[in-house]
Amino acid sequence: MTAQEVRKAYLDFFEKRGHKVIPRALLVPQNDPTTLFISAGMQPLIPYLLGEPHPDGERLVNSQTCLRAQDIEDVGDNRHTTFFEMLGNWSLGDYFKEEEIPWLFEFLTDVVGLDPEKLYVTCYIGNKEFDIPKDDVAAELWAGLFSKKGIDATKFEIGSEADGYAKGMGDGRIFFYDGKKNWWSRAGDEASTPIGDPSGPDTEVFYDFGTPHDEKWGKFCHPNCDCGRFVEIANSVFMAYKRTNSGFEPLAKPNVDFGGGLERIASAAIDSSDFFRISLLQPIITKLENLSGKNYDSHTESMRVIADHLRAATFLAVDGVVPSNKEQGYVMRRLLRRAIRFAFELGVEQNLCDQVIPIIADLYNDDYPEVASSRDKVIEVITHEEKIFRQTLRQGLKEFEKQVATKTELEGEELFKLYDTYGFPTELSKEEAYKRDISLANNIDEVFEQKMKEQRDRSRTAVKGEFKGGLGGHTEQHKKYHTATHLMYQALRDVLGDHVIQHGSNITEERLRFDFSHPEKMTPEQIKRVEDIVNEQIDKDLKVTFEEHPTQQAINELHVLGAFGDRYGDIVKVYRMQAEGSDKPFSLEICGGPHVDHTGQLAEGNKHFKILKEESSSAGIRRIKAVLQ
Ligand code: ALA
Repeated sequence: MTAQEVRKAYLDFFEKRGHKVIPRALLVPQNDPTTLFISAGMQPLIPYLLGEPHPDGERLVNSQTCLRAQDIEDVGDNRHTTFFEMLGNWSLGDYFKEEEIPWLFEFLTDVVGLDPEKLYVTCYIGNKEFDIPKDDVAAELWAGLFSKKGIDATKFEIGSEADGYAKGMGDGRIFFYDGKKNWWSRAGDEASTPIGDPSGPDTEVFYDFGTPHDEKWGKFCHPNCDCGRFVEIANSVFMAYKRTNSGFEPLAKPNVDFGGGLERIASAAIDSSDFFRISLLQPIITKLENLSGKNYDSHTESMRVIADHLRAATFLAVDGVVPSNKEQGYVMRRLLRRAIRFAFELGVEQNLCDQVIPIIADLYNDDYPEVASSRDKVIEVITHEEKIFRQTLRQGLKEFEKQVATKTELEGEELFKLYDTYGFPTELSKEEAYKRDISLANNIDEVFEQKMKEQRDRSRTAVKGEFKGGLGGHTEQHKKYHTATHLMYQALRDVLGDHVIQHGSNITEERLRFDFSHPEKMTPEQIKRVEDIVNEQIDKDLKVTFEEHPTQQAINELHVLGAFGDRYGDIVKVYRMQAEGSDKPFSLEICGGPHVDHTGQLAEGNKHFKILKEESSSAGIRRIKAVLQ
């Protein structure tokens, strides 16, 4: 099976078993201040895992795009990627272990066709301190399933990871590990589960790629060993508990939260321990071989980094992120710039992105319509960043010459300045220093990190301030401009595309000001078109009303607009602007209000909506000032 076929087979399999296929959430969380990116399929479902009813019922399935930026430095080995898809099925208080485990086994062995001899499983050993029992139920279920395939599945108690390296695996097939390995919460083992979070014991499936054990990790190999022989391909969490101050309380209805790495299962399906051989990555590698004239076998690591990073950046662009120096935009910039640098070393010195991104888009076009519809925009956003970065490299080199070339030592402050002000990558500064026999100060990395931290703190504070200022006051004039802002936001998306995301708004009695993601100057025609759409909606005298919704439902189902970076509570107010008699709103947006009652009020005094100015606000962000006059 190809990876695309695995994804489809999985969704079909669970759909046939009463699950509703739900769309993936955007990579940027819409109401979770704790993380920059969605990194597990369950993340957007937390309210429902805690008991809130989900409008699509109690059985859900999807493939969730995830990004783990913290893994960026690990990319290059055979199995780490920053971007991946997590196949997920959920029982919201419906079925439990007795259904989940046999379904999973059936899917992996009979549908994907994995050899059951190569599957090993782990279960939870229990915890006396928190009075949570060992998961014999799961282990028995597994033993029965293996036995039906003619495999005598011996159980083996391991305990901690360190115990695993000391004991090895005996002749076991089902292994019991402690909470560090077989307890799942968003933050780690039993004791570190965040208060209020759903969590529980899990059972994991490992695929044996049969590669030799490397003793640098520990004396003996075992399923949770890091040598790469065993790779976790599936994890069923039996989310039965909620963390309290003192321990755990059982959830009224326990859930199943299943997550399985699509790329990992697809690698197992082709029995290749190199994930980059699967159908969603190999075509990118092939393209890189063609572009560079070099072989994957001799430039493995660089090509993996480029393939992973460009794929991640592509999905970030699809989801409306543009490269910048803040938060998600910063990670995107870093991914792109790293990819471009690694390509540089392969001898690809220009036009990397406009040749590779279309290949990536082709791999997802059919399964994710939003990739197809945003294709041109995505290529534009990313190639624009490549252009800027190549200029930056030239400029940075000049600055390096000016500031450092005459010195004998490169210091953390200079490294930071070259990086922060000129965007010159630290690795390149260090390489340039090396080439010129300039030594590196002992504390160079500490000083650099400290400066980075200060910089991040500063920008966080700035972002917060910016969003608060959204609505300046409550006079009639303010309300009108506020309503006009909603109309314009939707009009901008209609004209420019769905990558347009609000990045800030400021309203006075005289004008509105609005910042949004868009990589280039708007043309006069586009500006005119936006004005026309807003004026049409004013003429139609749309009714302005609001409803309250659970945040996740508003975002997932109503597809309401919100502001990038804003954090919402559990319940949000959603403003609707809709023509009388129409069954579709023109604008649907999360907002505290207040607004006018009818858009026709904006035309009082024979006024029209007009854009006075459209200019750059920062990299990738445009700013509009508009009036009713
Ligand atoms: N939430 C579980 C995981 O991320 C399934 O592994």
